[in-house]
Amino acid sequence: MEILKKIVKFAIPYKKYAYLNIFFNVFYALFSTLSMLSLMPMMKVLFDDSEKVLDKPVFVSMVEITSYLEDYMNYFITKNNDSNGASNTLLYVVFAIITIFLFKNIFGYLAKYYITFLRNGVIKSLRETLYSKILDLPISYYSEKKKGETINKVIADVMEIQSSFLSILELIVREPLTIIFTIVSMLLISVKLTIFVFLFIPVSGFVISAIGKRLKKDSHKAQEQQGNILSILEESIGGLKIIKGYNSENHFKSNFSKLTNSFMKTSNSILNRQNLASPMSEFMGIMVITVLLWYGGNLVFVEHSIEASTFMAYMGLAYTVLTPAKAISKASYSVKRGTASAERVLEILDTENPLKDKEDALDSISFEKEIIFKDVWFKYEEQYVLKDFNLTIPKGKMVALVGQSGSGKSTIANLITRFYDVDKGEITIDGVNIKDITKRELRAKMAMVTQDSILFNDSILSNITVGSEHTHESISKALDIANASEFVNKLPKGITTNVGDSGNKLSGGQKQRISIARAVFKNPSILVLDEATSALDTESEKLVQDALENIMNNRTSIVIAHRLSTIQQADLIVVMKNGKIEEKGSHSELLKAKGNYYKLVNLQSL
Ligand SMILES: Nc1ncnc2c1ncn2[C@@H]1O[C@H](COP(=O)(O)OP(=O)(O)O)[C@@H](O)[C@H]1O
Ligand SMILES: [Mg+2]
Repeated sequence: MEILKKIVKFAIPYKKYAYLNIFFNVFYALFSTLSMLSLMPMMKVLFDDSEKVLDKPVFVSMVEITSYLEDYMNYFITKNNDSNGASNTLLYVVFAIITIFLFKNIFGYLAKYYITFLRNGVIKSLRETLYSKILDLPISYYSEKKKGETINKVIADVMEIQSSFLSILELIVREPLTIIFTIVSMLLISVKLTIFVFLFIPVSGFVISAIGKRLKKDSHKAQEQQGNILSILEESIGGLKIIKGYNSENHFKSNFSKLTNSFMKTSNSILNRQNLASPMSEFMGIMVITVLLWYGGNLVFVEHSIEASTFMAYMGLAYTVLTPAKAISKASYSVKRGTASAERVLEILDTENPLKDKEDALDSISFEKEIIFKDVWFKYEEQYVLKDFNLTIPKGKMVALVGQSGSGKSTIANLITRFYDVDKGEITIDGVNIKDITKRELRAKMAMVTQDSILFNDSILSNITVGSEHTHESISKALDIANASEFVNKLPKGITTNVGDSGNKLSGGQKQRISIARAVFKNPSILVLDEATSALDTESEKLVQDALENIMNNRTSIVIAHRLSTIQQADLIVVMKNGKIEEKGSHSELLKAKGNYYKLVNLQSL
């Protein structure tokens, strides 16, 4: 119920279509019942067993509406048979039947026509909300959750919600109304027969719900497995060079088939359970019909309390009541599957972002003095990665972080950009804790260049602006400073060239210079470079290094590097070890101290 409510929220903008759907469904249900009743006069004419009524009946009150209608019908048949013959009467009846069925189907179509807009609208809103949530959630969310699982939720689970969960919207008004109208007509024809029919319905309902129970659990499992399949697929395509290069195709194939095997088992169990629904309800249905035939037949032949033609029409009605009842029992399976998917989708939507902006967070700050790390402790999982870390980065200065891999350098970049929050201590900009600043404002002040240049499958231009306003001059200036103009101008399509998936149509050095152009274009006050040149060959490193020096000019920068030659001119060099500062000072001071930095420099110059 809770889940349904949350999903229904997405339907609110489309409620106009729900009303239209209800409106047409009321008529559909009405005509659906009428269509069965319309068979009654046909039987009466064919079997010629209608009571002869010679006087036009008069309408007395609503209480006697059934007998009035029946009398009127008999009167019409008697009169028309006398004056025009039975085959003419049959023509009238046939025409009436065709008209009623036509209307029934037109209304049925219109009801479906309108609900379609709602169903697909809900999917659109749901996907959009999910996507913004995915962008909003912190980076840490995705190191715990598999990417494939998240993608599966946006694609497969949302589809499942649309196909199964929302399919009940079609039934929710139509089928119960059809049942009510039909039952009313059945009761009007024969109370005795109707009570008899309804003794059977709870029995079949019980059987069906028993099968449905396990379905939800299995469906959860299936979607999870499908997520794992997506994960492996994504990883394999991304890592194709390694898989082929190390001849590990078979290893990956067998991992993949373990997943597909367990998915197959779960799916088999789900489908077969579902497959039971239709034969079960058909069998239940025919049981009702045959027992009814036996019981009703007795009423016709032995008791003579009901006419044969009326009984035939009654059978039609009983059948009409079974169709929506079957649809409802089928829908109960769908709802179970849909609920499982909805739960999984809501799991993302209900995840609180731990890095929320405070209500009174500053959306505009000045940066005139310094950034300070004060007694900062931080851990990703159990172990502290930064322990009581203290550092002051004055405005306009270049601070370099060096030290063995795993010592916590990138972590500092992650914390200053607030991709993660510190556990203890604080990071301040001009004395303001960065937790008191909106993330938007904080990140507006910074630009980051990382080791693996992150490029999107789009043009060079879009990769540089990532959605910001730009002029021709600002772009070419950014490309100039990033040492990228020359190669970009040589490309046949220039800045509109598509860079390919993750930029794989460019070389490593070219990719990195586009990343730098992106940072230059942003014109940040604080620049964070995390091993920006580490992945490059010497020649492109030289080009990228020059580009970096161009933008670091007069800017506050935090430079993480393992090639020490690139940071000699830094104002402050911080040597890190196991999340702590081991040494700090300028290049010449550290050389004089003959400590670890001295050793590292000697090691690298060898
Ligand atoms: N997302 C993460 N989840 C868990 N542990 C992490 C994560 N990122 C880094 N670590 C751990 O934190 C430590 C510091 O990592 P990092 O700051 O990336 O080191 P480096 O100095 O090489 O940049 C390492 O021991 C690493 O295993
Ligand atoms: Mg690192």
